[in-house]
Amino acid sequence: MTLRRLDISQFRNLSGVKIKPNTGVNLLTGDNGAGKTSVLEAISVLSVGRSFRASRTSAIIQFDQAHYTLFAEVFNPLAQLQPIVPIGISRNKDNEQQIRISGQQARSAAQLAELLPVQLINSDSFQLLEGSPKVRRQFLDWGVFHVEPQFFSLWQASQKALKQRNKLLKYGKMHAVQQLDIWDQALASYAEQIDQLRQAYVEKLIPEFEQTLAELTFSDVISVSYYRGWDRQTDCLSALQDNRSRDLALGFTQAGPHRADLRIRVNKLLAVDVLSRGQQKLVVCALLLAQGKLLQKLTGKQCVYLVDDLPAELDLEHRKYLCRVLEKMQCQVFITSVDQDALAECWSEHTPLSLFHVEHGKVTPTHRS
Ligand SMILES: Nc1ncnc2c1ncn2[C@@H]1O[C@H](COP(=O)(O)OP(=O)(O)OP(=O)(O)O)[C@@H](O)[C@H]1O
Ligand SMILES: [Mg+2]
Repeated sequence: MTLRRLDISQFRNLSGVKIKPNTGVNLLTGDNGAGKTSVLEAISVLSVGRSFRASRTSAIIQFDQAHYTLFAEVFNPLAQLQPIVPIGISRNKDNEQQIRISGQQARSAAQLAELLPVQLINSDSFQLLEGSPKVRRQFLDWGVFHVEPQFFSLWQASQKALKQRNKLLKYGKMHAVQQLDIWDQALASYAEQIDQLRQAYVEKLIPEFEQTLAELTFSDVISVSYYRGWDRQTDCLSALQDNRSRDLALGFTQAGPHRADLRIRVNKLLAVDVLSRGQQKLVVCALLLAQGKLLQKLTGKQCVYLVDDLPAELDLEHRKYLCRVLEKMQCQVFITSVDQDALAECWSEHTPLSLFHVEHGKVTPTHRS
């Protein structure tokens, strides 16, 4: 999947942006506050329907404007009849959104995500190691969502069952016990299926991760293990039933698929407690790159990589290794930097490279200086 055209209107300081990215590397340079990260943010909104840096739409819509509009043409090599898919999203200050795919109104942002898988590497990516299990669960579910078509509906159904169960735990009276039985069974049944899909995914991800770490010349042994969210010795239904009296006291479900996690360790210790900042960054990059490689291997789909301010995150040598991995994957990359020279030299001469200069919310194609 590659973006062939990108129009951004009234989004942060960007307006009237119309660019034709190439299928390889697109390097966006410009001063602080020029709008580079906002271009990546716009692509991410086109992929998942929401921003990676603001939860409030009013912060994203350009000051004094009523809505933002994003439009793109996605090239889908797997669709032989109509490989170019136009997609658009607009959102107003009341948070009402309109998503269109090939001229039709789309039901949900999940349809966009399916069409345009995007991976983001930025300073928040550290959260994969130091953040809560939720961050790692989202990372894991991104992968499972893209390779297992049945995952999303199972996940939605399990969320609904969990919500109902929590409601009963919190507000239910004595007669709620029977209803709790029903939701225990529903949640447990979805949980077992979700667990199997997640487990199978992690098993395939680990070798890709280890290989990518080696490509980034990272030599320590990092172990990745999957925790499914409830005790390994028991099935989910038993875990829910065993925990019921405590769950009732607490008013929420303690164990279940909503508690799944990935444990990333070095010498049996959590990687975040042992590795240097730079090493953590490499591990995080290896995880994110491994997902893209696995996606490609299992589905033939390629994801678009958004890399924000790489020079601030990695030294030159490791920057080059990372660029080499991205080049080898032959996926489309949007990468930002304040300094053009810090990145322009990282690519081989065979890689298609387009330079864009970003200034006061305008994006213009440019040439190497
Ligand atoms: N809703 C908005 N309307 C108009 N301008 C905005 C809005 N939100 C943010 N801005 C401005 O848009 C610019 C976008 O900054 P952005 O983070 O994209 O810059 P950048 O080029 O990535 O800078 P840096 O190199 O510092 O990371 C900033 O100058 C910011 O003040
Ligand atoms: Mg920025």
